[in-house]
Amino acid sequence: MTFDIRNIAVLGAGAMGNGIAQVSAQAGYQVIMQDITEEALEKGMDTIKKSLSKLASKGKIAADEVDAIIGRITTTVNLEEAAKDADLVIEAVPEVLELKIDIYKRLDEVCKPEAIFGSNTSTLPITILGAATKRPEQVCGIHFMNPVPVMPGVELIKGRLTSDEVMDEAVKYVEKIGREACLAVDYAGFIVSRLLDVVQNEACKLVMEGNEPEEIDKAMKLCANWPIGPCALMDLVGLDIVEHGLGTLENDLGPAYKAAPLLRQMVRAGELGRKTGRGFYTYNK
Ligand code: CAA
Repeated sequence: MTFDIRNIAVLGAGAMGNGIAQVSAQAGYQVIMQDITEEALEKGMDTIKKSLSKLASKGKIAADEVDAIIGRITTTVNLEEAAKDADLVIEAVPEVLELKIDIYKRLDEVCKPEAIFGSNTSTLPITILGAATKRPEQVCGIHFMNPVPVMPGVELIKGRLTSDEVMDEAVKYVEKIGREACLAVDYAGFIVSRLLDVVQNEACKLVMEGNEPEEIDKAMKLCANWPIGPCALMDLVGLDIVEHGLGTLENDLGPAYKAAPLLRQMVRAGELGRKTGRGFYTYNK
């Protein structure tokens, strides 16, 4: 089969989806971003515009490129419309396995036979998603990092049945958007979430034991050279995302990954981090 990626559909306009749409459009791809409400799409487009103007104000992109980049992104609330002409579909919907499986089944019906499906899942094994389709050899993981417009690495995951040709196309896409591909094996959490979720869970336990989030973060910044500490990182990524990631790791790999009671409690209280205005720190929403 011959692949030629020109049109990209991004499913989900949240923190990850809008960033993926942005960096793809910056690289010259024609992008259609889909979400289930107009409100979510507007919010996603607003975030893209703010990020592009930040990059332009720092001279990282030319000011006169901004409108052209935005012009390459269209939006829709209709999944089938988004997917029908796509050469590459990047799925960045919430980390709910049943939801993702339903979406992959629908994509399989409507997409071109040569369309490639890339999931931005941070922990769910790609092989499960591929098994929901009749084209598991064309399903891979394309895992972006938050905040997408500035993070230089993208994790690529080869499902058990993903073909080498499809992985080559995924690497080409990652290089075209100016990122570097990090290749990971398909077990829950891959490389990045497997390691980060464990450290973040330990940071929750340290807080439970009486450590201040500020001191944990300061220690990891000054003593381990992290750009931000694990508590600030959980606030950035979302505590619900970390808890969910640990749940998948626990299911697939065993009880060592059980979420700390404090993490569960904060998620139940709606202290999800930056997106709710409160996590380990407080933020102006
Ligand atoms: N769009 C455009 N530019 C942005 C931006 C955005 N969305 N967010 C930040 N920037 C720019 C800032 O304007 C700034 O630019 P200059 O250097 O030119 O001034 C630069 O990025 C650095 O930002 P800040 O000065 O505000 O803050 P910082 O120095 O702490 O850097 C950071 C921010 C790059 C996010 C850094 O803190 C960092 O690398 N943090 C770790 C992030 C990380 O680990 N991400 C992975 C999380 S795991 C994940 O995402 C996977 C998952 O599935 C859960």
